[in-house]
Amino acid sequence: MANVTVIGAQWGDEGKGKIVDWLASRADAVVRFQGGHNAGHTLVVGDQVYKLSLLPSGIVTGTLSIIGNGVVLDPWHLKAEVEKLRGQGVEINAENFAIADNCPLILPVHRELDGLREAAAGAGKIGTTGRGIGPAYEDKVGRRAIRVCDLAHLDALEPQLDRVCAHHDALRAGFGQPPIDREALLNELREIAPFVLQFAGPTWRRLNKVKKAGARILFEGAQGVLLDVDHGTYPFVTSSNTVSGTAASGSGLGPSATGFVLGIVKAYTTRVGSGPFPTELEDETGQRLGERGHEFGTVTGRKRRCGWFDAVLTRQSCAISGVTGIALTKLDVLDGFEKVKICTGYRLHGKVLDYFPSHAADQANVEPIYEEMDGWQGTTAGARSWADLPAQAIKYIQRVQELIETPVALVSTSPEREDTILVRDPFAD
Ligand code: GDP
Ligand code: IMO
Ligand code: MG
Repeated sequence: MANVTVIGAQWGDEGKGKIVDWLASRADAVVRFQGGHNAGHTLVVGDQVYKLSLLPSGIVTGTLSIIGNGVVLDPWHLKAEVEKLRGQGVEINAENFAIADNCPLILPVHRELDGLREAAAGAGKIGTTGRGIGPAYEDKVGRRAIRVCDLAHLDALEPQLDRVCAHHDALRAGFGQPPIDREALLNELREIAPFVLQFAGPTWRRLNKVKKAGARILFEGAQGVLLDVDHGTYPFVTSSNTVSGTAASGSGLGPSATGFVLGIVKAYTTRVGSGPFPTELEDETGQRLGERGHEFGTVTGRKRRCGWFDAVLTRQSCAISGVTGIALTKLDVLDGFEKVKICTGYRLHGKVLDYFPSHAADQANVEPIYEEMDGWQGTTAGARSWADLPAQAIKYIQRVQELIETPVALVSTSPEREDTILVRDPFAD
């Protein structure tokens, strides 16, 4: 049976959480495979709103939820998020939730370094979520990370602490900060260890068992392709690979497990933090998109930058990530606009481009070429079938899929779980 990999095809916040939650009741396991608690996935079910940053969205439906090895895990945040969700009535136990024991940890020193660097960067700052994601991934590839499995061996942590301190104390000195307090860190780790360890194990084994039994696995991406450390708007990116291929390496399943790649695509464009954004609207229209779409970051509360749909960027994301079909979200936000625009190409130094160039200066200088369409006067909000959509909204969807060269599998018309139109079942392949 097919698995499904959900990824963001823009700069994050496309509505991945809603779609994963909608699909989760039909999956046997939901797996996060990259990123950390920089993600903010909002799920709306009746009058309940769930905000998840680290836990897989499948936890709300009680589906087996796994944090894969590709994630960087802040153990203190984990505890807080588990407690918050339990407070909302969500059951979380070792039966329905597991953490890969080879996950690297985000330590307080990572969060501090993230903040110190951003503060020192001035105008060149990335606008990170301040959660220590970049420094934690640096320590992972620098082979000095403390990992979940180390929490069961804290008496033998000294050689690892030597490596961590040798690296970080030098950096901290550069910012005028005192060295790491090793004893305090060790005590904090000792205190949190039992909470994390009750869920920890070699999750690749559990997942492979699920896979062999023919069950359906749903991979839940965080961030979006344009924030990918290789393919995104570097250096204004996150520190992980957000493309679909990471689902395999970040979970311990081979590449064939990826299955149907469902790219989540917002009907317009948003971005949080710094970096190029060709179709950004710093006018009334951008304001209106932000207000109608409630575009405020889940993690940091920052106002999201808004603009028209960029078909060039989305086509590129879909190609790079091998997207099989898209879920087009927040179509309802465009309800009532007299005209809507779609970016179909860029102008750069007198030339027309049909792709987004790699160099930061070129990315900042491209000028969007727009195609204008009539908007629709009826409403798409809450539509649950194709027949409920105004004809002009259908035209917009069709134009989007034509330009991005990728078919539409789902359409989302409100934050609510059930306000979703199924065009092609991603699990059916
Ligand atoms: P994610 O990070 O990709 O999971 O997306 P976020 O949860 O950060 O941001 C998407 C926001 O839009 C959330 O507040 C969702 O509840 C909301 N949302 C999702 N789909 C739709 C939709 O189709 N229409 C509207 N109006 N809101 C939506
Ligand atoms: P979800 O999963 C939107 C952005 C930050 C910043 C850059 C680097 O909700 O779509 P980081 O803290 O990762 O080092 O920040 O990436 N960013 C996101 N933007 N949605 C997200 O996640 C994001 N996670 C990180 O704003 O520009
Ligand atoms: Mg989000």
